[in-house]
Amino acid sequence: MNDDEKTKLMLPRPVRESISEMTEIVLPNDANPLNALLGGRLMHWIDLAGAMAAHRHSRAYVVTASIDHMDFLVPVRVGDFVILRSSVNRAFHTSMEVGVKAWVEYYRTEENRHISSAYLTFVAVDADGNHVAVPPVVPETEDEKRRYEDAAHRREMRRKESARRNEGRS
Ligand SMILES: CC(C)(COP(=O)(O)OP(=O)(O)OC[C@H]1O[C@@H](n2cnc3c(N)ncnc32)[C@H](O)[C@@H]1OP(=O)(O)O)[C@@H](O)C(=O)NCCC(=O)NCCS
Repeated sequence: MNDDEKTKLMLPRPVRESISEMTEIVLPNDANPLNALLGGRLMHWIDLAGAMAAHRHSRAYVVTASIDHMDFLVPVRVGDFVILRSSVNRAFHTSMEVGVKAWVEYYRTEENRHISSAYLTFVAVDADGNHVAVPPVVPETEDEKRRYEDAAHRREMRRKESARRNEGRS
């Protein structure tokens, strides 16, 4: 890659360029004996949907550094559709905070319900696993601007929690 191409890759990018959507149908292999979606499967889909937004923003390989707290709000049954939507809230130096929201779609009644949301942090890496810088995010809508501001506070809280955990280990 020449210098012009590298400079172009680091130009600020609007949130809309990272927006990603994924739809899954819940199959028996995704469910517990009560035919309800496994929490771990939903976490896996959230990780994938989040990674798609991070890839689109950074145009790089990414690894998941952390997933914040998650609640599972309503049970989801075999045969239901799960829709996941993700976008990059803010980019820092090599890391990005991505928000993912998941809904269940009851296609027979055309009803949607919120199942879970999560904030994930991805770190951009090259093919050798070295961290690489990512371009800044440009929030455009009111919601994007709010998420952008809140992401800085959440990063600070993660750093404090991580420092507290590390003190506990030493
Ligand atoms: C995540 C990982 C890349 C961090 O590497 P590191 O060398 O410890 O991190 P550094 O302290 O240099 O920080 C690099 C960036 O990651 C961020 N980061 C590191 N740990 C983090 C965490 N637990 N949560 C959120 N962000 C984190 C830092 O804030 C920093 O961001 P910035 O460059 O935008 O300022 C590294 O721990 C790793 O490779 N982990 C395994 C990832 C993986 O395999 N994930 C799949 C799930 S098993």
